[in-house]
Amino acid sequence: MVNYVSILIKNGTVTNDDHQCKSDVLIIDGKIKDVGLNLVAPAGVQVVDATDKLVIPGGIDPHTHFQLPFMGTVAVDDFNIGTQAAVSGGTTFVIDFVIPTKGQSLLEAYDQWRSWADPKVNHDYGLHVAITWWGEQVSREMEILVKERGVSSFKVFMAYKNAFMVNDEEMYHIFKRCKELGALAQVHAENGDLVLEGQKKILAMGITGPEGHELSRPEELEAEATNRAITIANSVNTPVYIVHVMSKGAAEVIRHHRGKGHRVFGEPIAAGLGVDGQQCWNHDWRHAAAYVMGPPIRPDPTTKEYLMDMLATGDLHCVGTDNCTFCADQKAMGKDDFTRIPNGVNGVEDRMSIVWEKGVNTGKLTACDFVRVTSTAAAKIFNVYPQKGRIAIGCDGDVVLWDPKATKTISAATHHHAVDFNIFEGMKVTGLADTTIVAGKIVWSNNKLQTVQGSGKYIESTAFGHPFLGIETRDIARNELLFKVEREPYTGPVIDLSKK
Ligand code: URP
Ligand code: ZN
Ligand code: ZN
Ligand code: ZN
Repeated sequence: MVNYVSILIKNGTVTNDDHQCKSDVLIIDGKIKDVGLNLVAPAGVQVVDATDKLVIPGGIDPHTHFQLPFMGTVAVDDFNIGTQAAVSGGTTFVIDFVIPTKGQSLLEAYDQWRSWADPKVNHDYGLHVAITWWGEQVSREMEILVKERGVSSFKVFMAYKNAFMVNDEEMYHIFKRCKELGALAQVHAENGDLVLEGQKKILAMGITGPEGHELSRPEELEAEATNRAITIANSVNTPVYIVHVMSKGAAEVIRHHRGKGHRVFGEPIAAGLGVDGQQCWNHDWRHAAAYVMGPPIRPDPTTKEYLMDMLATGDLHCVGTDNCTFCADQKAMGKDDFTRIPNGVNGVEDRMSIVWEKGVNTGKLTACDFVRVTSTAAAKIFNVYPQKGRIAIGCDGDVVLWDPKATKTISAATHHHAVDFNIFEGMKVTGLADTTIVAGKIVWSNNKLQTVQGSGKYIESTAFGHPFLGIETRDIARNELLFKVEREPYTGPVIDLSKK
């Protein structure tokens, strides 16, 4: 039984993705009960002053991998530490990925993730499910996940050959099934065949260090796969969401297809917006290995501004993190071979501050844009809006008091992750979560956590959400272009191949 607390937030500036105004916010029993000026606290309700603060919907990170078993080891931020790190940075909802192995039952993997997450999460969460193989059983289980388990998004990998990767034909069938079920198709877009060949080539050249990671999978491989994924999705007229867009090339492909009216969504991540991949050329092996993730953080230092500009224009949509953390001794599994370095970086704690610092403090984003790309867009795309992603009567009481003037220097010495490295180490950011409220309860204030392990809930998402709006009409319009020409039968001669 969740013990909800009630709270009145006074004198703040309520900031949604579409509007900003001075307002108080009253949360009773975990839900927003009232929004307006001069609200009076009912007896026994805690009052919090938000003068000079923005009152924003809690951040949503649509891409985490807490305690993921991956590349022979397990990510160290589990569902407890990971969600603590999240709330300390202003994030109150994450969507993690169930990743079944090839041949494994999707339902069994889903149950496994629920059993890991439910007793540990400090705030609400949702689940995407990866489709790593194809067959009748997968098709059936996808339906059960959508209709009975609250899953409405499925991710495919075009990379990690011989592990998670699916081929084009499998992708076509998976996307068709997604469309029938009203589930959003998500794609890790890299050409997995060429990644494998690139790895062999770079290792054969004697390059075994972390720089070999990017050299073996340059951005053309991401751009090509992005184009292929969108082409396949468009051929079945189903919406597609490209996870971790890391390069200008992939972002340009997304913009190109959006320009033609195709239903494509793109997700840059905190790492790609905050740092560049030149770190993988650092002379300290541990430092360089810490930045290894797939697709690689690109060495072109102008990539991060480019991706931020595309968030501003609306060609890219929500900011994730791909939070998947490995300590030095785990990364060292690849000390003599970069292909064995577990792929993944931190981000869930610093995501909101990175976006504020690099987006709002540079004038690229407004405060409303900030709310859109860190919360509301993800709530709409993954169909938990307006329960999440909005400050309004009836919405969940997941609220952050954002201090646009507060400053800190990011460091592994002070972060709330389990990992022993922070890829943003030494970066000074202005714009921090002053107070984080989850279901009406303060879980982060005065730089202290007051979380309750296991208090978060799994939130079911339903199918045919925002990305599917108008898809049926598009089907009708497209089918009108597919017509048969009525003509008289051909009566002329036909070549006789039996005669020489
Ligand atoms: O390097 C990464 N991205 N690790 C997590 C798995 C994935 O591909 O999202
Ligand atoms: Zn991925
Ligand atoms: Zn297209
Ligand atoms: Zn990921």
